[in-house]
Amino acid sequence: MKDILTELEERRGGARLGGGQKRIDAQHGRGKLTARERIELLLDEGSFEEFDMFVAHRCTDFGMEKQRPYGDGVVTGWGTINGRQVYVFSQDFTVLGGSVSATHAQKICKIMDMAMQNGAPVIGINDSGGARIQEGVDSLAGYGEVFQRNIEASGVVPQISVIMGPCAGGAVYSPAMTDFIFMVKDTSYMFVTGPDVVKTVTNEVVTAEELGGAATHTRKSSVADAAFENDVEALAEVRRLVDFLPLNNRSKPPVRPFFDDPGRLEQSLDTLVPENPNSPYDMKELISKMADEGDFYEIQGEFAKNILTGFIRLEGRTVGVVANQPMVLAGCLDIDSSRKAARFVRFCDCFDIPLLTLVDVPGFLPGTSQEYNGVIKHGAKLLFAYGEATVPKVTVITRKAYGGAYDVMSSKHLRGDLNYAWPTAEIAVMGAKGATEIIHRADLKDAEKIASHAADYEARFANPFVAAERGFIDEVIMPHSTRKRVARAFASLRNKRTERPWKKHDNIPL
Ligand code: HXC
Repeated sequence: MKDILTELEERRGGARLGGGQKRIDAQHGRGKLTARERIELLLDEGSFEEFDMFVAHRCTDFGMEKQRPYGDGVVTGWGTINGRQVYVFSQDFTVLGGSVSATHAQKICKIMDMAMQNGAPVIGINDSGGARIQEGVDSLAGYGEVFQRNIEASGVVPQISVIMGPCAGGAVYSPAMTDFIFMVKDTSYMFVTGPDVVKTVTNEVVTAEELGGAATHTRKSSVADAAFENDVEALAEVRRLVDFLPLNNRSKPPVRPFFDDPGRLEQSLDTLVPENPNSPYDMKELISKMADEGDFYEIQGEFAKNILTGFIRLEGRTVGVVANQPMVLAGCLDIDSSRKAARFVRFCDCFDIPLLTLVDVPGFLPGTSQEYNGVIKHGAKLLFAYGEATVPKVTVITRKAYGGAYDVMSSKHLRGDLNYAWPTAEIAVMGAKGATEIIHRADLKDAEKIASHAADYEARFANPFVAAERGFIDEVIMPHSTRKRVARAFASLRNKRTERPWKKHDNIPL
């Protein structure tokens, strides 16, 4: 018996060593942690239950039968994050470059199936040379099975991808279908075709970092949601995100202990909006002053900065926030901000996370570049996402809510549940100057008359009361009481129930 136990320990030791000490040292030399070290940091201490430690590939081509390492380049199992269950796979670059064989893919599929069955998030740590070249189509089939599960799991359990090394070719499409992608600066990259292929086909010379590094994907392409300095920071931030999320689409987001009075008044908010309607102010200030303990977990903070998206808590409960940011492009809606916010709204709606919308929007960004690139379809995504969302929706208009953008930003007409406005709100078809120049075209050459028309228009429409008279605004509230009013609004909506017409699925403009 003792021998068998010793043998098991020896086998386990071999598996834990992955591709051997030399390769582990090389991994560390690049500033990267190993697959197992990453899992240790991600999960609560001692909570990891590993599966399939002894799985080995079955390939006999290219001499592969002589090289059958335990685990086959991926460590899989489940554990907890602050006591809540998650499933995890972590690709081991020290074993055959973390490349994906049929059995490697089967291991991933197994934990994805368990996660779906048992209702817990899947966190995938990617560090792989892609399809195991020696296995050919078997590897592609394995990827296909993972892809199909990504699709099945979408909207059922949260899926989070952490890119901590190479992720190239068709392999990128598994993370691409997950809810959040995080990258590590300087050590991770994602691209469909690498720099060499790019050079051959298009003659462009580009480095891997420029083509698919963390900066590219968080600032230009918006493929990734955030980039972190190193593996340790990235994993700590994933833990922080998981704390905001429900485990699955049938359970509620967690309620965390909170020490911040929900009735807290913030007098400084009464002067947040500047006197001059064209001066910017930082909408993040409002978000952090409303949030429990000022904690705001921003998503896509480096992309389309004219809109803010992320999570806060009110009375310990997760709330998804979408807010126009007057500091960037005056907070207008454009293609990028519409896409960014639409995806966020849909995530929240899938997972029963109530939505808070903070509005200061002068309209959609004009221009040929926007029109040629389809701002009509992209803007419609956000409109559609808000209109189909059935989670509790609370809106606060702080200043401008002009034109179509007024309707889009979770207005009453898109079934906003409680729509508040600050006294500084201006709810109108457009700003006074633009409106005057259109309706009083005949007076265009008379500056005095135009100024008087503009003042008249401003007096009549640059306020929240016309909309409030019609019930499109439920209440005009004091800025200093926003946290209290919004927290109470969400409290009143906790048992909200709505029916949607039966359909197979909608046809959101993609
Ligand atoms: C088998 C692989 C491998 C792969 C790496 N290795 N990628 N083995 N299949 N795809 C092995 C290497 O042979 C090497 O083994 C070890 O892993 C470490 O790789 P190195 O090249 O020494 O590491 P590095 O210099 O850091 O380069 C990393 C790399 C490079 C850039 C990822 O290995 C690389 O270019 N690999 C091939 C990438 C690729 O073309 N993959 C297929 C893409 S198509 P030894 O024993 O020598 O240490 C694809 C399609 C997916 O993925 C489609 C899904 C639908």
